[in-house]
Order: sequence, then C-alpha cells, then structure tokens
Amino acid sequence: MHLAIFSGSVFGTADEVADMAAERCRAAGLQVTRLKPVTVDALLAADADALLACCSTTGMGELPASIQDFYYELQSRFPLLTEKPFGVIALGDSGYGDTFCQGGEQLRELLLEVQARELLPMLRLDASETVTPEEDAKPWLDEFVAALKG
Ligand SMILES: Cc1cc2nc3c(=O)[nH]c(=O)nc-3n(C[C@H](O)[C@H](O)[C@H](O)COP(=O)(O)O)c2cc1C
Repeated sequence: MHLAIFSGSVFGTADEVADMAAERCRAAGLQVTRLKPVTVDALLAADADALLACCSTTGMGELPASIQDFYYELQSRFPLLTEKPFGVIALGDSGYGDTFCQGGEQLRELLLEVQARELLPMLRLDASETVTPEEDAKPWLDEFVAALKG
C-alpha cells in the first residue's frame, strides 16, 4: 500500500501534522511519498494507492497560499482519481465561525469531484481547543491506516 501525503499550511502546523503522519504511516508498514510542495504532476507521478491531505484555513475560509496552485490546477486539469481512497485532516479555529476548517473542506470537495473515495470522515483540529494537533491527529490516523489495510 502506497500512500501520498501532502499539505497546505500558512504557519507550518499542517506541514508538521503531515510530517508526523508520514513517519507514523511508514512505521505502520506503508510505503509513503511525502509531497512537499505538492504539484499535480508530482501527485500523478507518485501513482499512489491512496491520498492523505493535511490543510489549514486562512483569511476568510481560504486555502493557504502553499496549496492554492495545486488546488486550481487539479480543478482545471481534473484528472479522475476514481475510487482512490483519501482522507483529509483539516486544521482550523472554531472562533472563525462559519469558515471553520473551510480550507480542508474545499480540498475534500474537490477530491470527491474527481471521484476519489473518502475513507474516513474528515478530521477537524480546532486551534481553540488544542495546542497539540499532532498528538490529537494520531487516533484518527491509526483508524485511517487500519481502514487502508483492511
Ligand atoms: C489570519 C488568519 C485567518 C484564519 N482564518 C481561519 C478561518 O477562516 N477558518 C478557520 O477554521 N481557521 C482560520 N484560521 C486558523 C488557522 O487555520 C489555524 O490556526 C491553523 O491551526 C493554522 O495552521 P497552519 O500553521 O498550518 O497554517 C486563521 C488563522 C489566521 C492567522
């Protein structure tokens, strides 16, 4: 099982969660390609069996600049990722109200549009509630790995 992991981050937290996820998934026996930075070409070239995205939210519910080019290119090239299992770990802050985790949500919706298959409901990590997102992501990640292996 080959997993491609990518991230979109402003201040580095989502990148760190993705780095931790890469280490943890490798330790669990998966082959992992950590795409940093991510491009559509690199994602397609990796030809992974499954995808994991870690993405924060900025502005008024916007995607971080580090993943915007990827997002718009995926949207315009629209390579079908039919039935490819994916998961999204979204980082946000519920203090922003309606735009809570909107960046992760946008990415998730686009992956569904290109026909990928969401393996687990998106994890939302709330900066108002936790200062240890990497730790908090671990139980979800373990479930994700179990679902991939199952
Ligand atoms: C200027 C700014 C705008 C933000 N806007 C949102 C938002 O609209 N929705 C949300 O859920 N979180 C928002 N956040 C919170 C970040 O997504 C959250 O702190 C996240 O953990 C940052 O992760 P990063 O270090 O990977 O960028 C915002 C943070 C900042 C500084």
